[in-house]
Amino acid sequence: MQVSVTGIKPSGTPHLGNYLGMIRPALALVERTEAVYFVADYHAMTTTRDPVVLRAQSREVAATWLALGFDADRSVLYRQSDLPEVCELAWILSCVTPKGLLNRAHAYKAAVQDNVVAGRDDDAGVSMGLFDYPLLMAADILIHRADLVPVGLDQQQHVEITRDIAQAFNAQYGEVFVLPEAVIDDAVMTITGTDGRKMSKSYDNVVPILSPPEELRRAVMSIVTDSRAPYDQKDPEGCNVFNLYRHVAPGAEVDDIASRYRAGDIGYREAKDRLLDALEREFRAPRARYEELMRDPRQIDSVLERGAAQARARARPVLNAARAAVGLRV
Ligand code: TRP
Repeated sequence: MQVSVTGIKPSGTPHLGNYLGMIRPALALVERTEAVYFVADYHAMTTTRDPVVLRAQSREVAATWLALGFDADRSVLYRQSDLPEVCELAWILSCVTPKGLLNRAHAYKAAVQDNVVAGRDDDAGVSMGLFDYPLLMAADILIHRADLVPVGLDQQQHVEITRDIAQAFNAQYGEVFVLPEAVIDDAVMTITGTDGRKMSKSYDNVVPILSPPEELRRAVMSIVTDSRAPYDQKDPEGCNVFNLYRHVAPGAEVDDIASRYRAGDIGYREAKDRLLDALEREFRAPRARYEELMRDPRQIDSVLERGAAQARARARPVLNAARAAVGLRV
């Protein structure tokens, strides 16, 4: 069976864009691969400096996955920092990684660009952690010999960098690593937020998924629409409400609503109500489960502990193969 690996960076509560773009496709892969997923708390350290926040957000992310149906009996869910072996592998990989490869990473380049525009030193405020971010991610993936990496579009370059690093290592030392492939859902291109831009926490336009119903309602009602009346004929594709609805409602209902848009037989208020219904259907049970897990985090911790033991058992032989290949004692 193929192995799929992905990391979920704890940085605030996941929203509908995260769910449709990455969580749902990754959960679908659980059904047909050996899934090894983790909470990327080492990576979160590049942006979160508050230990209390880091700890809380790590738990929240684990609870989100479990609430949304990740089956920890069948697959592995662990906390990245419970597998410190990835840090050792990152060092080994760093010795075959050209610095220029990481100079070209989007996140680093964007930070440098901001500095240039502001007239600061190129690397002002850039930590080595931020610079090495793709390298640690390569270690996460390669240590499990992953075939598939389900990610959002923004992570595609990181998977390409991982392949380059694996290739460089294998060329120098022999075939230790498997070259992974990114799995990116086409739907991610079109998940728009309440204001019609890409749904993102930084734009403050997200639709929450596991928050209390009032918050979901408030977000849905705030979705920006034009001023056309219910009896006006409308193109469903151009509507921010429909663009979310079509990802969460069953196909037949989506077709029905689409033809009512075209016929001038539905108003935005009704469309929003329908979207809210569809979201409630999808998230009512997960929300209850999420609240239960957060009330008793011992359940979360025990899943993560079991996952850590499984992850280490999987990773050790691969790390040993890498150590042996480069000439370290095994
Ligand atoms: N960088 C990813 C993100 O921000 C999280 C991540 C860390 C990851 N390590 C990974 C994703 C390994 C896939 C594989 O979403």
